[in-house]
Amino acid sequence: MTIIAHISDLHFGCESPILRESLLETLEHIHPELVVISGDLTQQASRLEFRAAREFLSTLPYPYLIVPGNHDLTERNLPERLLFPWQKWRHYISPELEPTKNDEAFIAIGINTARRASLHPDWSRGSISRLQVARIRRQLQTTPASSLRLLTAHHPFWLPPLFVHRELVRHGETALQAFRSEVDIILSGHVHLAYAQVTQGVIVSHAGTTLSNRLLLHHTNSFNVIRGDRERLSVELMEWGSQRFRFARQQVFQRHEDGWHQQH
Ligand SMILES: [Fe+2]
Ligand SMILES: [Fe+2]
Repeated sequence: MTIIAHISDLHFGCESPILRESLLETLEHIHPELVVISGDLTQQASRLEFRAAREFLSTLPYPYLIVPGNHDLTERNLPERLLFPWQKWRHYISPELEPTKNDEAFIAIGINTARRASLHPDWSRGSISRLQVARIRRQLQTTPASSLRLLTAHHPFWLPPLFVHRELVRHGETALQAFRSEVDIILSGHVHLAYAQVTQGVIVSHAGTTLSNRLLLHHTNSFNVIRGDRERLSVELMEWGSQRFRFARQQVFQRHEDGWHQQH
């Protein structure tokens, strides 16, 4: 059984030291094989924040896979954003924007959906390109059929009705159709809302903000734990309460011929 911890939207610059310590303690009990971090590592993409994020990553005693979010691009320095959008990311965090982690039991593929600019007035909105979809499909063609297939991208591929104003990743619907029966679960963040749902036969699972004070009203800090294999997966929500992260709820999914279904 594979165990993966999914944390997101750490927003260094707005992070809480208590949450950080508690997260590391809780992960010790979970023993994840991989920690997935789905973007918005910083608040304003400053050097100070990137340094703090790097220091946190250096304390993680587990392999991790990380992709950027819209907050990891500067909003204050337009020349930097347009000409050298990923310079700080590559310097402080990783030379790779779209890493892959392989294990005997799983493959986890990162997708960078954050864009330096867009024709859309909201540049925080994400996008997935045809080239990115084609690259992922090529990688999956050589993946053993028994390996659990995870993707991670910062921006959402599905949103609950109350949150559709936050906008889905552009071309996400087309990507989901292409991923159907090839991808098992997509892990994302951005909305700071924890939920899991099957869409187009694929599990779409979002983590809340794990360490930051950028909380939605009536929501608390959280992260998810994914356990299972290509036949059965559970998504456990770990929520902050009484000064620690604790188990809040679990959703279980089963794979059939036509894709994944949630068990009720
Ligand atoms: Fe965020
Ligand atoms: Fe975001």
